[in-house]
Amino acid sequence: MGDFDDFIDGMYPYRREFPNYRRIPDEPVGRPEIYQEIAGMAGREDAIGDQGRVSGSLYSGDHEHYAYLGEVFSTFSHANVLQRDMYPSATKFEAEIVAMALDLLNGPEAGSDACGVVTGGGSESLISALYAYREAARTERGVTRPNVVLPTTAHVALDKGAHWMNIEVRHSPLQADYRADVAAMADLIDDQTIALVGSAGNYPYGLIDPIEEIAELALSRGIGCHVDGCLGGFLWPWAEELGYDVPAWDFRVPGVTSISADTHKYGYALKGTSTLLYRSKELRKHQYFTYPDWPGGLYLSPGLAGSRSGGLIASTWAAMVTTGRSGYLASAADILSTAAILRHGVAEIDGLAVMGDPLFLVAFESDDPAVDIYLVNDSLKEAGWRLNSLQLPPALHFCVTRPNTGEGIVGQFLADLADGVQYARDHVGQPAVSGAMYGFGGTPQGNQTINMLMVGVLDAMHEVAPSAGV
Ligand SMILES: Cc1ncc(COP(=O)(O)O)c(C=O)c1O
Repeated sequence: MGDFDDFIDGMYPYRREFPNYRRIPDEPVGRPEIYQEIAGMAGREDAIGDQGRVSGSLYSGDHEHYAYLGEVFSTFSHANVLQRDMYPSATKFEAEIVAMALDLLNGPEAGSDACGVVTGGGSESLISALYAYREAARTERGVTRPNVVLPTTAHVALDKGAHWMNIEVRHSPLQADYRADVAAMADLIDDQTIALVGSAGNYPYGLIDPIEEIAELALSRGIGCHVDGCLGGFLWPWAEELGYDVPAWDFRVPGVTSISADTHKYGYALKGTSTLLYRSKELRKHQYFTYPDWPGGLYLSPGLAGSRSGGLIASTWAAMVTTGRSGYLASAADILSTAAILRHGVAEIDGLAVMGDPLFLVAFESDDPAVDIYLVNDSLKEAGWRLNSLQLPPALHFCVTRPNTGEGIVGQFLADLADGVQYARDHVGQPAVSGAMYGFGGTPQGNQTINMLMVGVLDAMHEVAPSAGV
């Protein structure tokens, strides 16, 4: 088989095994047959994550929990949350998800006006917050050329949202400890700045930015401060309760005006929900959309989505109440103690350096020119691990979740990591497969090439498999 066939098989592993549909079949295919196909794919794909060798992505890993949530989901999967007259349960579930999230993140300390919405995920929460700040700045301050100031580590969904909404993103550099440089952020603010953003913790390094300082700066300039707690929001409160040193980041910090925290990450809900919490209803109202003049009727919607499945809201609510505070605490204890072993073990390996002072997500880079971190990743991939590659600077991260806390997993990882470093030393100068896309950028031509390649990948992801033997 040629290289091209190998590549296509990698992208479309099922193309020879199952029928490829290019039009709706004339007659319905039998349900058992289709279920068998789907279950076969799911079983195979889950096997990777179930070994506990994947960074992030799968937060609970408990198949009984998933099955139960699936059952709850199915009771309302067909229900449209927009139709509250038909489905008042959705009002109960959504309001209680928001109330529980607010309680966890000390919303009551922000005052009785603290509020929120449930969105479809972290990106939607971030983009919705950005929209609310843009609208608030436009209506209250007459801002016409909006910009947002955020550290380079803030999640890229903000860049995406800013691109869609014509908001300029002003990226500020980091301090030596990989957290936001607040003085640099201050220099980027002007009268068109709609908000500052900090993360708790950020995606690349899992670190909490100096939120108190960022929020104080925002307050002093009369602008809002969004804290992206999409990743860590449902973990930090338990870490704090367990006695870990967690810097202040939530609504207890004056000046924090909104927080995103994902239920579908450490909230252990099914994929497809997040919370976006606001200090005040005054700010939240800017993300609402109402349109009274449409022939289709009076239109009102809280955010980007129109119709939404009641199943997701019901199952997110069920995930929270059936996990309970004790369940969250026990999981956090396992995750944090595993991450501590991981962090210590990585730091012990000659040639690697842990980035910053992490608690649950451990990022590491090479501090030896003879160790190409992407070659280390090639070796880890070969050993069945799936880490996340970072760039600028080259590094890897392991975001610890429940599936990684199983007996012996972190020990095996550290052994394979040490082997990976040796592999990198043995192959100095060879191009790493994992790093193929990195290092190209930095110039307009390089970025253009990468963009073209990435567009090609996205196109391929939306195509039916080319027929076998192309
Ligand atoms: C810090 C942070 N913010 C936002 C997001 C975006 O979340 P989602 O993938 O649910 O859109 C992520 C995802 O990993 C994240 O780590």
